[in-house]
Amino acid sequence: MDKRLVDEINKQITYEFYSAFLYLSMASYCAENNLLGFENWFKVQKDEEEFHANKFLDYLHERDEHVIITGFDNPPEEFTSLLDVLERSLEHEKFVTSRISLLLDIAYEVKDYAAIDFLNWYIKEQTEEESSFKTLIGQVKLMGDIGPGVFQLDREAGTRVFTPPIA
Ligand SMILES: [Fe+2]
Repeated sequence: MDKRLVDEINKQITYEFYSAFLYLSMASYCAENNLLGFENWFKVQKDEEEFHANKFLDYLHERDEHVIITGFDNPPEEFTSLLDVLERSLEHEKFVTSRISLLLDIAYEVKDYAAIDFLNWYIKEQTEEESSFKTLIGQVKLMGDIGPGVFQLDREAGTRVFTPPIA
């Protein structure tokens, strides 16, 4: 594979694990603020990010490339409200989408059609990620992030379970 593409995928593995830690930090904020449903929701989100990271990792091995596991910055630990958590999540997902686009740009540049096919899965996944945060932000704005409205949303968030996305 093209070296730049391998390097950027390795970086992406780090970003996906960072995302997992970011969502775990948000899950903790929810737990500490009596939003146990959203705590569950963000823990499921963390599982999804680990899935994304492992999928990249497996792909590099499949293509006979070297995987580099690195550390990363501490995720934020202070949030002001549930809405703040969700808005910062959406902002983060937009950043991740731009990263996936960069990977695809390189894959097209070097005409790596196998990588293009692989990366298209992430494009679709990112559309879903951004959409689910946008929906939650809209619902929280509608119901208010304190009071009985959020209690209802929290109960729904508590029913989310991790199902590995279809590869
Ligand atoms: Fe991800």
